[in-house]
Amino acid sequence: MGEIKEVLFTEKQLENRVTELAKQITADYAHTGRPLLMIGILRGSVIFYGDLVRKIGCNVYFDFMSMSSYGNSDKTSGEVRMLKDLDESLEGKDVIIVEDIIDSGLTLSFLKKALAARKPASLRICALFDKPSRRKVDLKGDYIGFEIPDAFIVGYGLDYAQRYRNLPFVGVLDPSVYEK
Ligand code: IMP
Ligand code: MG
Repeated sequence: MGEIKEVLFTEKQLENRVTELAKQITADYAHTGRPLLMIGILRGSVIFYGDLVRKIGCNVYFDFMSMSSYGNSDKTSGEVRMLKDLDESLEGKDVIIVEDIIDSGLTLSFLKKALAARKPASLRICALFDKPSRRKVDLKGDYIGFEIPDAFIVGYGLDYAQRYRNLPFVGVLDPSVYEK
């Protein structure tokens, strides 16, 4: 695949880190006595979500939301919209938002405020990737897979213009793809 400049994480590296995150989450939530609801943010987190929940050793309730902050480009518009809301109530539940990547932090800071208002027992963020150098708002994830430098990555759910999501590894996209 000529558009991938460099492989950042292999399938095996992703699997190992996802296993560690799942162990940590299991240890933190197995004994709360409350339902654990994991909210997948469509569409980028889907593959991570599927792998993560299958390694968690306590019961997980599923729900999904869809947010939009990007068009078909690698630049953030700074504008966050909710395209699909949750089906479940959050009241009294332990909630973990599962996201593919934290970049500017705008999407998750908007979402965290919106969901906190629905009175969950607790609310945390789990993101597979984090680009802390790109942050525009003060936002921290609670479970982070990998911190990465400022590069545009694709694969394992992450896209550029809806492409590359099904790559089993994560790679840096060659800038020639979007610098046209
Ligand atoms: P934020 O609101 O700027 O934190 O943007 C988060 C969203 O931007 C993620 O859910 C991704 O959809 C997208 N995004 C940010 N960086 C990348 C990247 O390197 N590759 C693919 N998508 C990205
Ligand atoms: Mg996304």
